[in-house]
Amino acid sequence: MNLSEEKEKKIQSLLSQMTLQEKIGQLHQVSPSPVGAFEISEEEARKMLQEGKITQEKYESILHHTMIDEKEDDIRAGRIGSFIGIDDADKVNHLQRIAIEESRLGIPLVFGLDVIHGHKTIFPIPLALACSFDEEAFRLSAEIAAKEASEDGVHWTFAPMTDIGRDARWGRVAEGAGEDTYLTSRYAAAMVKGFQGEDMSDQEHLAACIKHFAAFGAAEGGRDYGAAELSLSKFYEVYLPPYVAGIKAGAATVMTAFNDLNGVPCTSNSFLLKKLLRDELGFDGLVVSDALAIGECVSHGTATDQKDAARQAIEAGCDMDMGSNAYLTYLEELVKEGSISESVIDEAVCNILRVKFALGLFEHPYTQKRAVSSKLTEEHRKAALEIARKSIVLLKNENHTLPLAQKKRIAVVGDIASDRDGMHGTWVLSATPNSAMSLVDALEKNRSNFAYASCFDKNSEITGDPCGRDVLSINEYCHLDEDMLKETVAGCDTVIAALSYMSSGEANSRCDLTLHGDQLRLLELLHDMGKKVVVVLFNGRPLALGNAIHLADAWVEAWHLGTEAGNAIVDVLYGNYNPSGRLSATFPHFSGECPLYYSHTSTGRPANAELHWTNKYRDASVNPLFPFGYGLSYGEYEYSDLELKKEDDEIVATVLVTNKGDFDGEETVQLYVHRRRAERVRPVRELKGYKKVFLRAGESQKVSIRVKKEDLGYYGICGEYRTDRSEFDIWMAHDSSCGEHGVVEL
Ligand code: GLC
Repeated sequence: MNLSEEKEKKIQSLLSQMTLQEKIGQLHQVSPSPVGAFEISEEEARKMLQEGKITQEKYESILHHTMIDEKEDDIRAGRIGSFIGIDDADKVNHLQRIAIEESRLGIPLVFGLDVIHGHKTIFPIPLALACSFDEEAFRLSAEIAAKEASEDGVHWTFAPMTDIGRDARWGRVAEGAGEDTYLTSRYAAAMVKGFQGEDMSDQEHLAACIKHFAAFGAAEGGRDYGAAELSLSKFYEVYLPPYVAGIKAGAATVMTAFNDLNGVPCTSNSFLLKKLLRDELGFDGLVVSDALAIGECVSHGTATDQKDAARQAIEAGCDMDMGSNAYLTYLEELVKEGSISESVIDEAVCNILRVKFALGLFEHPYTQKRAVSSKLTEEHRKAALEIARKSIVLLKNENHTLPLAQKKRIAVVGDIASDRDGMHGTWVLSATPNSAMSLVDALEKNRSNFAYASCFDKNSEITGDPCGRDVLSINEYCHLDEDMLKETVAGCDTVIAALSYMSSGEANSRCDLTLHGDQLRLLELLHDMGKKVVVVLFNGRPLALGNAIHLADAWVEAWHLGTEAGNAIVDVLYGNYNPSGRLSATFPHFSGECPLYYSHTSTGRPANAELHWTNKYRDASVNPLFPFGYGLSYGEYEYSDLELKKEDDEIVATVLVTNKGDFDGEETVQLYVHRRRAERVRPVRELKGYKKVFLRAGESQKVSIRVKKEDLGYYGICGEYRTDRSEFDIWMAHDSSCGEHGVVEL
C-alpha cells in the first residue's frame, strides 16, 4: 500500500501506546445488531418467537435490523476495530464519533459491507459482467459502486471475489468471473482499480478485498465450503493468478476462504497467509477471516477448541476475526499464558492500522453529507445500461427469430418478466426495492406491441424443492396455468418466454441444473402450438439445457443484469444493440457433466465421439452445449489470414476479422494457446489474450494480440516455473472451440 514513512511511524507510535486489550480490540469485527450475519439469523429469531423465548416486539425489532445493540460500550472500551453490515452514514458517524471521542486512543473504526456488483445502481452479477470481456466496464462498475457506497458510510467492500469457478453446481460461480484464469485475472485487477481508485482516501472509493483466499471455487463436488485438493502446480497455474493480479493491482485487503486447501483450513494456513501472501507476494494490507471461519477450524478438526483456533489463526497470519469472537475472547489469555507472543498481535494490529491510514480515517473519520447524491443518478443508470447490454449472451437464434420488428405483435409469458427485484441476483444488500427495470417495464417504455401474463398460478405451489420459496421465483415454485398461457399467446406467432433459475450464490450448491417446475412444460406447450419462441433466461450460473434447447428458436442469456436489465434486454431483442457477450463459463448438456470447462488436459485417450475407448460420457456429447467464449451476434464475424510472428520473446498473432452481418457490432477476438512440449500435461487450450474490436457491417480489420514467452510457462514436476522451448498451437478465435490455427516455436 506504499504508506508514507511518516504514517508508518505514526502506526508504531500508536502501537506503543496501546494496551494488549486495545490491540486485540482492533482485530475484532462485529455486525451491528443481534440479527447480523453471525449471531442469530431471522429464522432463528422466528423460532425463538414461536418457542416464546422472545416477545413479538423483540422479534419485530430484530426483523427490522434496528440497532438494538450497537455495542457502544465495547467501542468506548476499545474492544472493536471494525463493523460489517452497516450502509447508513448517520449510523456509521454515530458509532465513529463514540470511537473517536469516547475511547482512550480515538482509533477510528473501519466499516465493511458486501458491495459485490453495485450499491444502489446495480450492475450485472460478476459472472455476467465477465461476459463483456470489457475491462473498462469492470472498472467503471466498481468505481460507481464505490462512489455510491462511500456516500452511505462504507469504507471497505468484500469484493472482488476472484475464485475460479469451473463447476456450475457451485452456487457462487455467480459471484466470480467464471472458469478462466486469464479473464478472471484481468477482472480482478480492473475491479480493484475501480473500487480503490488512485487514492482510496478520497472518500469516494473503497478498500477492495481479494477473496476467498484460496481456491474456494475448487470445493469438491461444487459443494460450498467443501475441501479443495489441488496439486501445487494446478493451484499455482489455475487458481492463484487472479488473487495475485488483484494484489498486484494494490488490493488493500484479502479474505481467507472457508475451505481447507489440501487439508489445512485457509484461515489457519501459514503457507498461504505468511509464506505465499506476505513473503512471496509482498502483500502489506490486512487479512480478514471469512464470517465465523476462525471458530470453524474446530469443525474442520484441526483446532481442539475456539481458543486453539484463535491461536492457530493469529499465528498463521489472519489479522482480523469476522464475527467468531475467538480473538476477543482468547487472545489475551493466550498471550498471558505464553502460548503466543504479543509481537504476533502487534503485526496484525499494524496491518489493520495501515489500511485505516490508507483510507484516510485518521484524517477524516466521518462520512460527509454530499451536496448532490450520486445514488441511482441518470449517469449511473446510463452506465449500468451500457454494461448490462454488453453482458447479455445470445446463445441461439434460428429461423430469423431475432431481432424482432418493432411493430410485431408478441406475447410475453413468465412471472420473472415483471419481477424487478429479481433482476438483482444473489448478492445485493442495499438496492432500492422496485428500482430496477423489469422486462415488462422496458417493453412498455419501448412501446412494444405485446400482451403479457405471468401464466404461473401464484396460489399454487410445487412442493419438494429443497431450496424453498426464498430462493426460487414464482416461475419455479408455482404451477403453470395452461389456460392462461393459451389465452395469452393466442393470435401471436412469436412468444417471449421469460424463464428463471434463481438459486445461486452462497450456500446454493445444486446438483440439478435443469429448468425447475413447469417451465419445461411451458416450452413444450409453446413448441406444440407451433409458436416461434424466444427464451429470455434469468439465472446466476450455467444451466444444463440439453433437454430444453431444441424447444425454442432463440435463447437470450440475460443472467441477473441489475438496475437496467429490462432496457438492456429490449435493446438486444429489437436490434438496438447487437449482442456481443461471450460466455465466461461453459454450459453443459446435463448436470452430470460438471465440472465442465474448456481448459482441460487431453488425457492419453482424448474424447472422440467416433472412438469407443476414449475420455467421454457414453450418454452425452463430447462437446459442451455452449463453450467458454461463445456467443452469437446479429451476423457472422469471419476470421481469416492468420499471421504468426516472433518478436524477441513474444509471439504476435494477427488475424483479419470481417463483419459479414447487416449490423455494426463488437467482436471479442480471443487468443488461445496450447503448449506441445512440457514435463507435465498441458491444457488443450488456454486463453492468453483477447481484444475487442468494433466493426461496421461489412467492415474488415486486422487484429493483433501479443503474448510473452514468460506467460507461456508452467510449473514443472518439482514446482519450479518453466518456460521450456516448445512448439505452440495458436488460435485466434471467436470462442474456445474454433479459430484460425497456426504453430510457432519459441
Ligand atoms: C460470507 C461470504 C463472504 C462475505 C462475508 C461477509 O459468508 O463467504 O464472501 O464477504 O460472509 O458477508
